[in-house]
Amino acid sequence: MPPYDPPLIELKHVSKRFGKLVVLDDLSLSLNRGETTVVIGESGTGKSVMLKHIVGLIRPDEGEVWFDGQRIDQLPERDLVPIRKRMGFLFQMAALFDSLTVGENVAFPLTEHSKFDQAKIDEIASEKLRMVGLDGLQERRPGQISGGQKKRVALARAIALDPEVVFYDEPTTGLDPVRADVINELILKLKRELSVTSLVVTHDMVSAFKVGDRVVMLDRGKIIADHKPDWFKTCDDPRVRRFVDGKAGPEDLEALEND
Ligand SMILES: Nc1ncnc2c1ncn2[C@@H]1O[C@H](COP(=O)(O)OP(=O)(O)O)[C@@H](O)[C@H]1O
Ligand SMILES: [Mg+2]
Repeated sequence: MPPYDPPLIELKHVSKRFGKLVVLDDLSLSLNRGETTVVIGESGTGKSVMLKHIVGLIRPDEGEVWFDGQRIDQLPERDLVPIRKRMGFLFQMAALFDSLTVGENVAFPLTEHSKFDQAKIDEIASEKLRMVGLDGLQERRPGQISGGQKKRVALARAIALDPEVVFYDEPTTGLDPVRADVINELILKLKRELSVTSLVVTHDMVSAFKVGDRVVMLDRGKIIADHKPDWFKTCDDPRVRRFVDGKAGPEDLEALEND
């Protein structure tokens, strides 16, 4: 028998409440290696909370989180550090350090977590900036570049340590369609060139269809669909249709009637 190759990431029966609010409800999900999994769902449905469980920023009330065959949800912070080095994050707000140059921002994880000398760090930072199409902007400050460029710098920083998995939380939100497509192309490029496993949280269906090998829909902390992207184009579950087509249903419009 071939040796067992566990999924890179697994959530097993994860539940999480904040006070009375159940945010994740017995959620199970495994990410296949080398695949791009897209998680879609309405605002407030638990997508970011799910991501934060995977990177160990939030701990589950019940259930387990596994990374590469190791259970991580109960690990002390110190033991999470080497695991987080294997993960790249592009968070929703994608904040850069305003006091550092673009080059220093990208170099930051290398300065913090690697033993490379400065020349090697600069070389890697340039290589990552080249990947996102921004080589040459090293000396700029975040205040001197556009919103789309900031996202790309944050992405270059996210891949500085050659992570095995990259998490994107709403990477195209707030960008115009052309800039959003640049980000989609980058997600595809990183998968192609670095063979990373990716998890993309989004409510942008154009992006979901373009980058996803698989699309998982979350609704009130539960997975209600888990299929190849094409399935979402034709499925007739009203909860899925409403979201995918971006059409309000009667329950969404009720509030208007009371105005
Ligand atoms: N740290 C927290 N404390 C209390 N409530 C939270 C916390 N983080 C998220 N929530 C709540 O959990 C729900 C899901 O949030 P989130 O995962 O951010 O939604 P989204 O699907 O839009 O990413 C929301 O109602 C949010 O207000
Ligand atoms: Mg979110």
